[in-house]
Order: sequence, then C-alpha cells, then structure tokens
Amino acid sequence: MMNQWKPLQIGKYTIPLPIVQGGMGVGLSWDQLAGTVSKYGALGTISAVGTGYYQNGKYAGKMVKGRPVQPENLNPPQALQEIFTNARKLCGDAPLACNILYALNNYGQIVQDACEAGANMIVTGAGLPLDLPEFTKAYPDVALIPIVSSARALKIICKRWLKRYNRLPDAVVLEGPLSGGHLGFSKEQITDPAFRLEALLPEVVTARNEFGDFPVIAAGGIWTKEDIERMVALGADGVQIATRFIGTFECDASLAQKQALIDAQAEDITIIDSPVGHPGRALKSELFRRIETNAAPQIACVSNCVGPCERGTGARKVGFCIADRLSDTQFAEDPTLGLYFTGAYGYRLEKLQTVKSVLAELTGTDATALV
Ligand SMILES: Cc1cc2nc3c(=O)[nH]c(=O)nc-3n(C[C@H](O)[C@H](O)[C@H](O)COP(=O)(O)O)c2cc1C
Repeated sequence: MMNQWKPLQIGKYTIPLPIVQGGMGVGLSWDQLAGTVSKYGALGTISAVGTGYYQNGKYAGKMVKGRPVQPENLNPPQALQEIFTNARKLCGDAPLACNILYALNNYGQIVQDACEAGANMIVTGAGLPLDLPEFTKAYPDVALIPIVSSARALKIICKRWLKRYNRLPDAVVLEGPLSGGHLGFSKEQITDPAFRLEALLPEVVTARNEFGDFPVIAAGGIWTKEDIERMVALGADGVQIATRFIGTFECDASLAQKQALIDAQAEDITIIDSPVGHPGRALKSELFRRIETNAAPQIACVSNCVGPCERGTGARKVGFCIADRLSDTQFAEDPTLGLYFTGAYGYRLEKLQTVKSVLAELTGTDATALV
C-alpha cells in the first residue's frame, strides 16, 4: 500500500495507516463506520455509548417513551456484541477499538463487555481513567488508550498505572481544543493560543518520552494530509479524526446529522455547557434557542447516563439531558431538538464521500491502492 508514514503500532496491533477514526457517542460510530475504516487499513472505533438505541432498541430490555431505562438498558452488552460482530463482517480480523467515556455510570462493566465483544483496544476520555487496567486484567491483549488534553494528565495516568498495575498506556490520544464533543479545557483555554494542539503536542511527546515509547495520537481539527504531516513533524505517531468521517456514506449517523453539518457555516458552530461538566462543541441548533426561551424539552433522567450529571442535576443547570438530546439527533422521528456535536471544522463538510475516498485523500493515495 502506498503510504509515506510509518504504520501505527499499538500494543500487539499494527495499523497500516496512522489514522484513528475517533469514537462518536450515541449512534455515530458503530459497525458500519468503524468496520469500514478498519477494512481500509486505518483504525475504526466503535462507540459503546447508547447502544440501547441500536436497531430500534432491540436489546434495551426496558424503554419508557422510547428511552432506555437506567444504564444497563442504555448500554446493554448484547447490543455491543452485535455491533462488533457486524463490524467484523466488514473488516475481519483487522484491529477495532472501542470508545467508552469514563463518566459513564457503568464504566467498568462496559469495559468488560467491550473486551468480551472482541474489542482490541479500549479508548477512554471524559475523565482520567486511573483504574482502567483494573477492568481488563482478564484480557491482557487488549490495548489501553487514554485520551488526555495535557502533558500533566498523561503523567498522572502513567505514574498511577505504573504504581498500581505495573503497566503503561499502549498509546495516548491528545485531544486539542478544536475537537468535537466534550472538551477537556475551560472556555478561556479553548481560545488561548497556549492551548493549541500544536503547542500541547510537543509537551505531551516529551512527557511520553519520560515514560516509554508508546504512540502519541493527535486529535482535533485535523482535516487534510497537510494537517497530518504537520502533526507528524511535531512528533505525533498518528492522528485521530472524527468530524470528517461524519461526512461519509458509511457513517452510522442519521441523515439529519450529516445534512446539518453539510449545511452549517463557521458561525453556526459554538461552545456549549454540558451536563458532563465540561464544555462541548456543537451546532447552535434549535435546542439552544429553546433553552434561551425556557421552552426546552423536560428533563426526566430516564437513562441515568453519566455520573457527573448526578441524576439530572447537571442537566437542569445547563437546560438539557445529554442522553436524550444526543439520541434525538440520531433516532427521533423529529430531530429538531437534538444536540449536534461537531468539531470546529464541521462546516467544511460539503458532500458525502466514501470512507475509502476520505482515506485516499488523507494519505494522498489513489483509492484503488487501499485494499
Ligand atoms: C459528534 C461527535 C461525537 C463525539 N463523541 C465522542 C465520544 O463519545 N467519546 C469520545 O471520547 N470522543 C468523542 N468525540 C471526539 C472525537 O472522538 C475526536 O477525538 C475529536 O472530535 C477529533 O476532532 P475532529 O472531530 O475535529 O476530527 C466526538 C466528536 C464528535 C464530532
């Protein structure tokens, strides 16, 4: 395969193209997207969040008004298992990652479910996964990849994992402030040049060098081959890309989400407060106009998804339930009141493409070379 970059080595797995498709929660990165990305030599990531909604709630034992009740129905193991089985139909034995937010109420259980389902790697952000190795002890081949926003966070994780578990991460993802979804920065930091990905990356590479030689994967606003080359020049071993993959036919996201990004202009993308306790990046959609006029949907906390929200307390502070609003974007008959997460460059999506053609553009190869 034509590829000027070194393959990405994560634990015992070799990924021919040093490109990771970022996990996108509640229905955007499931079997079709992740399986296709892995099929063509990059690393596909299945999101374990909200799998109760998979195939019209087939595996959610209990639903109330279309919402899975409690974490065990929001994230049932059988759904994750079927998502992996279906992804494997596309990519065979190629490595597949599973993204699991640390903030999820049943985090440890979902990590074990993902290992059982055949995940080769666990990727975790939205909190420091200081006890992640605890849950994968029975699965020594599963690679562990924390997501951090600073060198400091990486050092804390390395020290704790060495002390408690005598192991290091198998790779680390550094998510910069142009990322989509939840951001590990304060609102002030997001626009502060000192926190640009280009500024943080060399610090994280230095921190990695203090501990070992596992890959550093840079994320947030990476859109072109030139962006990847810039990150590699700054010491990255690979990149993680999410928003660009929303603009693919294979992406599991709803047409509403894909079209909303295709229609979006730069000024439609904003920073919001999330019940998870971090800022997030999303479209300035009808939901936020309704919140301003006190006309947003009621907060019922049926799914009890993330710990920091404290059963709807965080949701009431910011005006919306994260599980309900993210799932509406993907699954509601009327997605008007959905929450549309996007990276800072979501407005650059102009049309749908195949995953293969996106990877061909990103690597500067002819699509026929990607087999
Ligand atoms: C719609 C959307 C949903 C996301 N959901 C998650 C998630 O569930 N877990 C996570 O760790 N990161 C999530 N992210 C972050 C991405 O995985 C990725 O690291 C980041 O968006 C990279 O920046 P880019 O979108 O500019 O490429 C999400 C991003 C988007 C755009």
